[in-house]
Amino acid sequence: MDKKETHIIVFGNEKGGTGKSTLAMHIIVCLLNAGKKVAVIDLDSRQKSVARYLQNRQAHMANSGAEVVMPECMVIAPSSASAIQDRETEDQQNFQKVLSRFKQTADFIVVDCPGNDTYLSRLAHALADTLITPLNDSFVDLDLLGEVSANDFQVKKLSCYSEMVWDSRKFRAASGRPPMDWVVVRNRLASLGSRNNKRVHGALDALQKRVMFRYLPGLYERVIYKELFPSGLTILDVDNSNSLSNVAAKQDVRSLLDSLNLF
Ligand SMILES: Nc1ncnc2c1ncn2[C@@H]1O[C@H](COP(=O)(O)OP(=O)(O)OP(=O)(O)O)[C@@H](O)[C@H]1O
Ligand SMILES: [Mg+2]
Repeated sequence: MDKKETHIIVFGNEKGGTGKSTLAMHIIVCLLNAGKKVAVIDLDSRQKSVARYLQNRQAHMANSGAEVVMPECMVIAPSSASAIQDRETEDQQNFQKVLSRFKQTADFIVVDCPGNDTYLSRLAHALADTLITPLNDSFVDLDLLGEVSANDFQVKKLSCYSEMVWDSRKFRAASGRPPMDWVVVRNRLASLGSRNNKRVHGALDALQKRVMFRYLPGLYERVIYKELFPSGLTILDVDNSNSLSNVAAKQDVRSLLDSLNLF
């Protein structure tokens, strides 16, 4: 039987530090736990957060003898050719080479983009079946999606990142591919609802109709999402039945996965 087409999930946002790598790592482990074959492309070749997370995971496995599920992972660095045309050609070739290899076996390819605009990142956005954009609950983050009026908090115009995603969508449509599912995920939510929280919700609600994304509540601010990095583990790998907060964290990640409608 022919293999089902590989689904490409891209974590992107030109704003840095919004939770792309953290969410990517958790969704990767969810997919592996569901028995899916996952391959990872880390396009953030300076920080390599996801690749580093996975290295820590490998080391943990070697040191402890524990069996943990692992994906394949490749880091792609941008070309350093001097002419822009040569750089783009080289980036395109490197990206296609890794994609073609991973597509032979992977059910899902997860791409983690850097928090700025790069040619490699644009290539990934143009191929995303699902684009996940984490956003902190802040108008500073929201400004990358749309400019919001100071008087009534309504969206005045689209911003650079939304325009870029729009171009990626046009590219997909022109190449006959089904529409991308763009999901904006609020991250690091405060447990107490605030006025800011409600206003960001209102602006995102207005924006999602204009820009055609759907937005999900996502993850609360929790220490557990960051403290496991050195062991390469996630909340999904540890027994957390003795902590209500950790049980809730696991539930948040699973709800996010369910809402992505990936399988
Ligand atoms: N829900 C959360 N609760 C607590 N801390 C979080 C949460 N999500 C992310 N963080 C922390 O926020 C910081 C930024 O997260 P992360 O590195 O995943 O963002 P990023 O978008 O990948 O950043 P960059 O653009 O630099 O690649 C990290 O210290 C991470 O541990
Ligand atoms: Mg990152």
